[in-house]
Amino acid sequence: MSSIDSVLKENRLFPPSDDFRVKANVSGMEGYNALCEKANNDYEGFWGDLGRELITWKKPFDKVLDSSNAPFFKWFEDGVLNVSYNCIDRHLETRGNKVAIIFEADDGSVTKVTYRELHQRVCQFANGLKSLGIAKGDRVVIYMPHGIEAVVAMQASARIGAIHSVVFGGFSAGALRDRIADAAAKVVITANESVRGGKAVPLKAVTDEALGLGGCDSIEKVIVYQRTNGKCEWDDTRDLWWHNLVKGQASECEPEWMSAEDPLFILYTSGSTGKPKGIQHSGGGYLLGTLVSMKWVFDYKDTDVYWCTADVGWITGHSYVCYGPLAIGATQVVFEGVPTYPDAGRFWQMIEKHGVTTFYTAPTAIRSLIKLGGDLPKQYNLSSLRLLGTVGEPINPEAWIWYHEVVGGGRCPIVDTWWQTETGANMIAPLPGAVATKPGSCTLPLPGIIADVVDEAGAPVEPGKGGFLVVKKPWPSMVRTIWNDPDRFKKTYFPDDFNGKLYLAGDSAHFDENGYIWIMGRIDDVLNVSGHRLGTMEIESALVANPLVAEAAVVGKPHEIKGEAVVAFVVLKANRPEGEKATQIAKELREWVAHEIGKIAQPDEIRFGDNLPKTRSGKIMRRLLRVIAKGEEVTQDTSTLENPAILDQLRHSAL
Ligand code: WT7
Repeated sequence: MSSIDSVLKENRLFPPSDDFRVKANVSGMEGYNALCEKANNDYEGFWGDLGRELITWKKPFDKVLDSSNAPFFKWFEDGVLNVSYNCIDRHLETRGNKVAIIFEADDGSVTKVTYRELHQRVCQFANGLKSLGIAKGDRVVIYMPHGIEAVVAMQASARIGAIHSVVFGGFSAGALRDRIADAAAKVVITANESVRGGKAVPLKAVTDEALGLGGCDSIEKVIVYQRTNGKCEWDDTRDLWWHNLVKGQASECEPEWMSAEDPLFILYTSGSTGKPKGIQHSGGGYLLGTLVSMKWVFDYKDTDVYWCTADVGWITGHSYVCYGPLAIGATQVVFEGVPTYPDAGRFWQMIEKHGVTTFYTAPTAIRSLIKLGGDLPKQYNLSSLRLLGTVGEPINPEAWIWYHEVVGGGRCPIVDTWWQTETGANMIAPLPGAVATKPGSCTLPLPGIIADVVDEAGAPVEPGKGGFLVVKKPWPSMVRTIWNDPDRFKKTYFPDDFNGKLYLAGDSAHFDENGYIWIMGRIDDVLNVSGHRLGTMEIESALVANPLVAEAAVVGKPHEIKGEAVVAFVVLKANRPEGEKATQIAKELREWVAHEIGKIAQPDEIRFGDNLPKTRSGKIMRRLLRVIAKGEEVTQDTSTLENPAILDQLRHSAL
């Protein structure tokens, strides 16, 4: 990324104000260092104490960490709990009438749900699932609009011990089918339509299409929440309205008591191969990760109004919408729509309207809002804000400073949180009342997270030098395995290169002279487009599945708003198209990728060639494609290239 260069020169420090520090849950570097020291001296004792303090157990655990089958680590395994109980029931006595969710729909209408009401809704839906025969360990696919019902569906699954797999509502029928099939799910929960930015997306129709693609024989029922008046096809033997399912169901549902190691959910994410990985998380450790970070990183206070803008289709929406905020008893805003509808003031208007104190969003959203209306925040009263956060990709210092000054009024610390689907919860992030922030750096690991930057041999690198970001000790909210593929889990995250001892995050990073960590980007064939992970191989497979395409190679290039843009180099079976024809086919291929994977994976740019630059042994030279995609001159050695002339052709073929 071009912003990396400017990031590297950034050295301004923003310590917390005295006022913030004094009131913070972890106060000052003394507070941070004391926690780190405790973790260093007695790692298991440290996590064990937090596990006892923050989680309500049906039966407490005796053993904190079991490493006997590393890297398949187990946390709190003999402890018994229910995650949904921790998110809802345990608040009823003290916070039953507290608002749990302030839901704002795309059209601006607001629905508030208290913890007591949430309890009732979750219990009724859980009983509904049970009435269909869904039980502990069954997989439930949730393909829903972002909103109260999505949270209810997730919580209800957790309540009965079913394993949910949420599929982002922007994914295609093919992507949905693959996820249903891989997990052999029994039920899909969807809606007739979702609404975003005034436009309806026919989720039920996509579900029908997915089930029609084959491989989904495990599906017994499709539960459909009626979000709009839009019509959808209906199969009486299989489809069931949400409102009919919950009608007459009891509003109490005894939680299924689970081992802390029983799986809570699977969430698919992209990797280096074409097949997404089903990242599997367990209940106890995951819940602890979300709780600890709510307390330390988001400095949670009972008076807060918390708002994380992520969709539940992503890990951020799992940890910081569905689980963390509820587990800690927060009032949170859940927003169905998009930041730019009806205009680029939507976020700021909502912060004012709901009195949001803690706001967590993505750098890509910040950059697009700067571009569309950098002065808009000034039209709103944002004085309720006390803490800001970012996640998903490095934030460029310009955007950071704008966020800090224009949105945060110069008074709110910004927590730049580095983590991953696999880590379950924040890993590297400033504790806002302790660690001075630096624009562009996610700063220091959370206490108890032993992160490092190492070279190929696993040896620490000196400050300023890039290396692999690793985690040296297991942590409670870590991925447990890849669903159905423990070998891939081992190879991907605990590779033999490091003797299987280090968790390899897949990012490159470096330390600066203050010991702060700077994330530089992915080391694998994974792109980060608008904070979302996309595997280049997945997009390539989608492209070559098109009957017109013979070969395709996908790379990323820096993009002002999205961070990275998708560039596809395509060789057709027919001759290389030119002019109008090329434009037409490029359009077709974009629509094709949207249909195969989802809109987020659509190439921003397509370049047709007679061929791709290959070595004599037939390997596509992606580093050259990256240079061409950036529009730069190829200065690297091309002597191993079989067909050097192709570079010139590709250079002049951007569409
Ligand atoms: C990848 C994980 C974690 C929720 C959102 C994405 C990148 C994430 C940061 C950050 C720099 C970041 C990394 C990471 N990333 N947060 N604060 N600074 N990069 O989850 O889809 O699992 O992607 O996102 O490259 O490996 P994900």
